[in-house]
Parts: sequence; structure tokens; C-alpha cells
Amino acid sequence: MSSQIIPVEPFDYVVFGGNGDLADRKLLPALYHRDRDNQIPEQARIIGASRTTMSHEEYRHFARGALEQHVAAEDLHPQSIERFLSRLYYCTIDARADGGWDELRAMLDEAEPNRIRAFYLAVSPSLFGDIASRISEKGLSNDRSRLVVEKPVGRDLASARALNVTIGEHFREDQVFRIDHYLGKETVQNLMALRFANALYEPLWNAGHIDHVQITVAESVGLEGRAGYYDKAGALRDMIQNHLVQLMCLVALEPPASFDAGALRDEKLKVLRALKPITTANVEQVTVRGQYRAGASGGQAVKGYIEDLGNGESDIETFVAIKAEIANWRWAGVPFYLRTGKRLAQRVSEIVVTFKPIPHNIFDSSAGNVTQNQLVLRLQPDEGVKQWLMIKDPGPGGMRLKHVPLDMYFAQSFHVRNPDAYERLLMDVIRGNQTLFMRRDEVEAAWEWVDPILKAWEEKGVRAQGYTAGTWGPSAAIALIERDGRTWHEPD
Ligand code: BG6
Repeated sequence: MSSQIIPVEPFDYVVFGGNGDLADRKLLPALYHRDRDNQIPEQARIIGASRTTMSHEEYRHFARGALEQHVAAEDLHPQSIERFLSRLYYCTIDARADGGWDELRAMLDEAEPNRIRAFYLAVSPSLFGDIASRISEKGLSNDRSRLVVEKPVGRDLASARALNVTIGEHFREDQVFRIDHYLGKETVQNLMALRFANALYEPLWNAGHIDHVQITVAESVGLEGRAGYYDKAGALRDMIQNHLVQLMCLVALEPPASFDAGALRDEKLKVLRALKPITTANVEQVTVRGQYRAGASGGQAVKGYIEDLGNGESDIETFVAIKAEIANWRWAGVPFYLRTGKRLAQRVSEIVVTFKPIPHNIFDSSAGNVTQNQLVLRLQPDEGVKQWLMIKDPGPGGMRLKHVPLDMYFAQSFHVRNPDAYERLLMDVIRGNQTLFMRRDEVEAAWEWVDPILKAWEEKGVRAQGYTAGTWGPSAAIALIERDGRTWHEPD
């Protein structure tokens, strides 16, 4: 079975930060793939915009480098590359002053007046407000414009609200696409399919049958040259407030009436609003902060965070573990253990749903232990789903029980390339489909839960505990879950 490509309408994609890290690693490669699959119409243009002075040709040269580095060799074809590069243009622009805006407007005005214009802000969050205002004040926006905002939206509740207000002054909410690229990952969408396209799981999807849920987003990389941003953010703002909280919402939400943006986002919002507050009273029991120290990654010695930073001291966390709880009828008493960190033992992201133990064991001890059923949704690497079950060990030898996975490794079974999350999301923007994007109230509700954690850490002086690079984080994170008689799932 092959995937189905539905071409989109002609568009102009203006990428602010067009020669930055995100454009280089993700956006240009993703657009290339969509073009190669013939999803991008002939007239479409991609316009890189940034402060750097560059010609169209120089920008195409930059993009060629991005493709060569970040697209798999078997997907690079000279004809496809040339066709893609011919769609690229460049505009030198100053986000905080007037330079370049008239030129950009003139470029956009060359196309038919009602063409879709998508403005992608792949820049420092401190520029979001300025750029959004200028796009509208300089008359670049039309009724069919979309504004795409990368995370993080704000650095706390107050700044997120202020930014949303500024954006709202210039764009309608249905024009604003707040990206959380985790929502574009295949397995995350598969979670929706498993839950709501099967009759099997939903009756069991509650506190009566589920023991606990673990969400791990572990990275083996360190700072990757992003010290300026990261040291002001830390893992709670960088990963938990958005990616992990969004994943938790999708696991926990009530069945929406339809898979449309409004219905799905209403249900996510209810989960966010039901999150039990974490305050000074319990912050030390239910959260752990960590920071990596020198160690090893992939067999190589690596530096600690402070040495990576290169200047001075920092107590910013590169690791967080949280025991979260959702105070509603479906989930009361079911912990959601979240953990994320840099320089961990391996790169792996997964959601693990552990079901309750069987109520009574009819087998005698010679059959072996009965392990709890687990549903493991692997986001990366090797996207797929495993449903762990108990079976009889095949063959003679009496009744012996065995814990085995029912393996649903989709990309392999369907012989398709697993698309990067950005491919889908970039095209959803053009289609005007906001289902996999965060709505204003959702972002603010997530901050309403995260803000008190930040404050409680500060008030209680909760320091980041050191962990050796290449391990699973501070020992306190292991203690956090073991106190409850459970263990972190060991990825295979
Ligand atoms: C980004 C974070 O949103 O997600 C980065 O800012 C992180 O710090 C990245 O490395 C992880 O994304 P992925 O898709 O590689 O898991």
C-alpha cells in the first residue's frame, strides 16, 4: 500500500530565520520531500528572510547544503533538487526596523492577490511580536495569510499571554499556527487512531484498568550550540511545557466528537485544566531537576553542561522528571510519570501505558510470573507500537507463560518512508488545518500548570542534581518512581 499525496493550493511560504538552524535541519528538507512527492504546485514559492545579506542564488546554495546534509542520500535526486531550488527566493530583512519590508511586499505582490501566504517565524522568540506586528503594519498580510509560530510561546504565563495578545491584534486565531512538532510525529497520530478507530482500547482506557503512564523523551545530544537560548529556558520550558504535556493530553483526553481542530483542542484543554497543581507543598516529592556532568555518549567522552556552556556557572536543568496527576473521573489515582533530558543513555521517545495486574492468577508458580500488559508507543527512533501480552510459551514443557510483544512496526509493514513531523505540519498550515497545532488557550493553560513549578523550585531552592552524561539522569529520578513500587520502562 502506498501513501496518498494530495496536492495543496499554490502558496508563498516566507521563512523568517530562513538561513537559521531550524530551516537548515528541518524546514528546507521537509519542503524538499513534499516537493519531491509532487505535493507542492508549480507556482509555489519559498522565500527565506533574515538579516544576513544574500542573493537568491546564494540562498539556493545554502539550501543545497541543507539538503545534502539532512536528506538521506537515496532521496536526493538531481532533478528533484534543481526543481526544489528553483522555487526558492531570498529577502534581506530587519525584523526590528524598516529595512527589507517593502522589498518583501513587492515580491509577494507579484503573485495573484488571494494566494495563500504563510509566514513562518523560525527566529528567536523575542522577535515573534515584532515580526507579527510588522507583517500586518507593512501590509503583507491578506485574508488568507497564516502565521506559524515556533515554540516556546513565552517563557511564563505572563509573557505567553502578552505575546498572544500582540499576535491577536494582527491575526485572527484561525490564522495562527503554534507549532509543537511532536504532534506531527507519526506515532502520535497513531495514538489517536489506536484509541478512536478501534473498539478494543477505549473501554480499558481509564483508572479502572490502567495502572500508570510513562512518557519519556530522552536525547543523547547535549547543547548543540544553542547555549544562548537553552540556558535561559531549561528542560521544563523547552520540553515539558509543550512536547510532553501535549503527549500527556493526547493520552488522557476524552473522545472528541470529531477529529476536527476545535473538538480535539477543546478536549486537550480540559485535560490541562484538570492537572493537579504542583506547588511548594509537594514540589520536592513529585519533581526532580538534573544537570549533566562529564561522561560518555556513543562511546565518546563528552563534557558536562557547564563546560559546554563555556562561561561561568548555571543551575539550569537539562533533565526533569515529574509525577503528574489528572484530577478527573477517568484518571484519578493514575500517575503520569514524565521525564526528559539531554545527554541521556540513548535517544528514545516513548509513551508506555501499563495496565493493572490481573485480579487473580490461576496458574501455579511453575508457569512463571504474570507481567502486566503494556502498550508501548515508540515515537523515535523506529516509530511503532508494541502491545505486550502474556502467552503460553509454545511447544511442550507444560504451561509456561511468556511476555511477548505484538509488534506493529508500521513503516516496515506498509513499505513507506516515515515522514518527518515537519512535512505534515508545513502542509497542514497551507491546508488551514489546525488540528495538530496549539490553540491560544491551550498554551496558556499549559503555562498555568508549569508556572507554579518554576516558582516552587525557586522558593524552595530546588537545585539541579548532577548526573553523568550517558546515564538515565539523577538517582532521584529513579527514586521518584520506585517510591511508588514502579520502575521506568527500559527501552529495547
Ligand atoms: C525542540 C527542543 O523543540 O525539540 C530541543 O527545543 C530538542 O531542545 C528537540 O532537542 C527534540 O526534537 P526531536 O524531534 O529531535 O525529538
